[in-house]
Amino acid sequence: MVCAAMLILDVLSPLLLLSILLPSYGCRAADIPEDATSEFSVRLYHQLQAAGEQDNIIFSPLSVAMALGMVELGARGASLEEIRQVVGFSHLLPGVEFSLLQNLTAALSDDDSHYVIRFANSLFLQEGVTFNPEFLHLVRKYFQADVETVDFSESAAVAEQINNWVENHTESKIRELLSAEDFTSATRLTLVNAVYFRGSWKNQFRPENTRTFSFSRDDGSEVQTLMMYQQGDFYYGEFSDGSQEAGGVYQVLEMPYEGEDMSMMIVLPRQEVPLASLEPIIKAPLLEEWANNVKRQKVEVYLPRFKVEQKIDLKSILQDLGIKHVFTSNADLSAMTDGKDLYIEKAVQKSYLEVTEEGAEGAVGSGMIALTRTLVLYPQVMADHPFFFVIRNRRTGSILFMGRVMTPEVIEPNDHDFDSM
Ligand SMILES: *[C@@H]1O[C@H](CO)[C@@H](O)[C@H](O)[C@H]1NC(C)=O
Ligand SMILES: *[C@@H]1O[C@H](CO)[C@@H](O)[C@H](O)[C@H]1NC(C)=O
Repeated sequence: MVCAAMLILDVLSPLLLLSILLPSYGCRAADIPEDATSEFSVRLYHQLQAAGEQDNIIFSPLSVAMALGMVELGARGASLEEIRQVVGFSHLLPGVEFSLLQNLTAALSDDDSHYVIRFANSLFLQEGVTFNPEFLHLVRKYFQADVETVDFSESAAVAEQINNWVENHTESKIRELLSAEDFTSATRLTLVNAVYFRGSWKNQFRPENTRTFSFSRDDGSEVQTLMMYQQGDFYYGEFSDGSQEAGGVYQVLEMPYEGEDMSMMIVLPRQEVPLASLEPIIKAPLLEEWANNVKRQKVEVYLPRFKVEQKIDLKSILQDLGIKHVFTSNADLSAMTDGKDLYIEKAVQKSYLEVTEEGAEGAVGSGMIALTRTLVLYPQVMADHPFFFVIRNRRTGSILFMGRVMTPEVIEPNDHDFDSM
């Protein structure tokens, strides 16, 4: 594994204490599977970023990779090669990616006493077309996935059946994934992909410390939000890419969930720097640099409550990234069924994430926290403007969610009394 060097600025805000050039350390131990898909994850992010000006973003790279893995099991020829190439598996021996994906998901579900992860990946195939038994066997073996048959000509009934299935697999958080209009009598195959995660912070926020607070969006507008607060031990670092393009120094805060295997990493530019200036520098090796170089220390954290939900037309995004063949009538899915001219008509992903004090709703205080902008002993992370985030497995590096918050949970001025900021 290549570990690049980068400039790390170690800052105890607001004083610059030292700035050093560090070769990176902390490369992953050899026995832990390495997620080869982080490049793909970042490219997906940049596609979504280009499409959605000021919108929140949330998607699950790992879940997309798993869904594509299922397709790969059924694909041959150019259909297979394109997926391997784009997802980042072409350096592996053929087929090794299935075992890799299996190990990465196993590592995620290792610790189910501390959090809940539900993947809902399924292929829905037109009734009367039969799956190849070997394909079914492999899909279950590697992905514990369901493959089901439906009658797409009954489009309303199919939408309901698929939506129920997804709801059942995501603790009812993901509803109405598809509608009758999504299907035609010509639909033969639909790829459904959803993921649900619920974790409790290792260091929870105390609900009584949550206050209404102004959040400045990148378009200059302000919204009122519920800002959580705590002083606690987290992983923290201040970074700069060494140029001014990304707005100079930015903060990275890693907040572990209970069990410490999973964490949310928050990347926050300086207040006056729009997130759009930082986004272009986000690259797969940089994610790793952040993870390897944040250090455990006491941090003062102001984080808005937020809920992000997004439905993504995976088909168009994957086509843009170079996975085209499998969506055309030239697709080769001959390992999946004997049915001729079978191709993927539709591919969607819907993700949902809610970040609160502990995972459950807490009581909301009113009034203000005294905000001292005087010299503080601990670095202060004040997420009162847009930020980028990643929820990842700290052992394998696999990325469960990636996204950004441009607008947190907005509260109406009448909901709570709040003081002027
Ligand atoms: C997955 O785990 C199994 C069992 O530990 C191991 O034999 C296999 O090599 C792993 N696969 C990959 C691709 O790391
Ligand atoms: C969803 O779960 C309910 C209750 O467990 C069950 O009755 C129903 O058949 C399930 N629906 C699907 C589509 O799996």
